[in-house]
Amino acid sequence: MRHLLDTRTLSREDALRILDVAEDMRDTQSREIKKLPTLRGKTIVNLFFEDSTRTRISFEAAAKRLSADVINFSAKGSSVSKGESLQDTAQTLQAMGADAVVIRHGASGAPQTLATSGWITAGVVNAGDGTHEHPTQALLDAFTIRKRRFGDDSRGRDLAGVRVTIVGDILHSRVARSNVWLLHTLGAQVTLVAPPTLVPQDVSRWPARVVYDLDEALSARPDAVMMLRIQLERMNAAYFPTEREYSRRWGLDARRLATLADGSIVMHPGPMNRGLEISADAADSPRSTVLEQVANGVSVRMAVLYLVLAGERSGERDTNAEEH
Ligand code: CP
Repeated sequence: MRHLLDTRTLSREDALRILDVAEDMRDTQSREIKKLPTLRGKTIVNLFFEDSTRTRISFEAAAKRLSADVINFSAKGSSVSKGESLQDTAQTLQAMGADAVVIRHGASGAPQTLATSGWITAGVVNAGDGTHEHPTQALLDAFTIRKRRFGDDSRGRDLAGVRVTIVGDILHSRVARSNVWLLHTLGAQVTLVAPPTLVPQDVSRWPARVVYDLDEALSARPDAVMMLRIQLERMNAAYFPTEREYSRRWGLDARRLATLADGSIVMHPGPMNRGLEISADAADSPRSTVLEQVANGVSVRMAVLYLVLAGERSGERDTNAEEH
């Protein structure tokens, strides 16, 4: 795998390969083998133009557990504030020896540009671009659903027949987009729930059903309910209900939590707006996989970095490659 840019073009075969390698990585961690020598001598740059807690730290932890050297770059406090371009920034970091660049950027398509422009030769991993995609989040979500469903018997399995309901600010969510494509590729059935004003205009072209009433969606007893963060920083008051109204109609609270089927899980990519899209009862309940998702994220990112930097190259089909 040369790059990981999105889940829309990720094949079922490659998605399962990442999830299965992540299982191996998780096993080594659970056997207290904290550090593998696999990427010794490689340098990974975390190039973050937007804020992050989970993604940046978990890519750093993943790289270090594979014995790679890590350079953390944050646009804040860098020469980006003096007007330095993405091209010059990336080429500067490559000149310092970057073998792979993990990029989060506010512009949709920035990772694709980095991978296809010829500016750098390093592998590129998308850590979230604008409202476009967040592929490693979707992969760790799929890993978590699969693990909860199949336990130690997860390897090689897809999510055929699993019903996932994604609730909230679909309009601004790169997490929702990556999840819809990946879950569909893995055979899951996806339902989206949101106020009409937070549903993207092109949603009819997505492989998902759209419902506007959360109670109606929950009455279908989904296997997983994924709550999304309301992105208040991107919200325009003209199309967002009041927070109180939103919470009442689309929030996951104790009453709705109690209606979920046995075995149904509650997911959230974080960071959470407690009391808005999810109540403390739901976030902290035994059904919640929020912290499992974070822990699984390290294993999944170890798998992605391994496959980008040490996976076989000759003769492999280059899904998510620069031609896309
Ligand atoms: N889920 C996620 O991307 O969180 P961060 O913004 O903290 O990385």
